Amino acid sequence: MHVEELNGTNCKTYLLAVGASAALVDPVRERLATYRQILQARGLKLAMILETHTHADHLMLSREGKELLGAQVVMHRESPSPLVDRHVEDGDVLLLGTERIEVIHCPGHTPDSVSYRVPDAVLTGDTLLIGGSGRCDFPGGDAGKQYDAVTRRLFALPDDTTVYPGHDYKGKTTSTIGAEKRDNRRFAGKTRDEYVALMGQLGLPFPEKIQQSLQVNQSGFEAAEVQFPLVADVAAMPALSPAEVAAKLASATPPLLLDVREPEEFVGDLGHVPGSLPVPMDALARRLPKLAGYVDREIVVVCRAGARSASAGAILQQAGFRHVRNLAGGMVAWTDAKLPVAH
Ligand SMILES: [Fe+2]
Repeated sequence: MHVEELNGTNCKTYLLAVGASAALVDPVRERLATYRQILQARGLKLAMILETHTHADHLMLSREGKELLGAQVVMHRESPSPLVDRHVEDGDVLLLGTERIEVIHCPGHTPDSVSYRVPDAVLTGDTLLIGGSGRCDFPGGDAGKQYDAVTRRLFALPDDTTVYPGHDYKGKTTSTIGAEKRDNRRFAGKTRDEYVALMGQLGLPFPEKIQQSLQVNQSGFEAAEVQFPLVADVAAMPALSPAEVAAKLASATPPLLLDVREPEEFVGDLGHVPGSLPVPMDALARRLPKLAGYVDREIVVVCRAGARSASAGAILQQAGFRHVRNLAGGMVAWTDAKLPVAH
């Protein structure tokens, strides 16, 4: 398999090619025209767009970008975006031409982070970087899980496996699993507790474009379509587990369940919670007057993975709704808990 980095910046996009079949890993929206030129010039047909996670530092492809490239978008099952065509889980194998691409779930930087293992190499996204690792302080981040993913899963690969990271800030391009096991000071000789403590003390500023990037990438909506609340307000949204929501629904004063996914998701694979009210994200602002009766009642906001619903919940709070909660983990967690769904 041919593996090539296309951006030449610290934010990396990889081209994978087998014969005339190609995949792009983590394409950046601004460079869409360049990617198309490269594919065309080499006579490559784009089969897949593989995302290693929901990015907070750059805009992922929009609906239009996806159509221009004409390939299916692949992301982990817990990825919030409605623009994903194929959801994958740990152990799934994708085929590019005759070659295998294996999905390794590596939660930590985000809940939906994956690494893609290809012959002799692994694309590690923001999980394992050269001499470093991706930050774990964004909403949904978890340093302990990241330590487990790196030390138990990635470090279990053969030592000579080439590592292609999602970022590098020092001009490096590749490493190997063996070199990272030996030299990566985040992990070498560190216990899980030491790693969690270290990651909690990084004190990194949020990326400049987090406000524009994260919520657009999570929701599939452009900022002009939906006025997003501040990331800090979204992170502060109180959440309820699926079991807690189910208990409330069975009580004498059940909350209103507001499902902010797209209409096709509401009736799609995951279904919806029986009795929930569908109000897609882009319709929420104009539907607020109809929800006025719920200003003092409890509202639980629901989406696919709990990210869009946290944004929608913050919008409701700003509009004066006083008892807004988020269904943690969204319909993915609800169905994992084997709670009732309607289609
Ligand atoms: Fe990232």
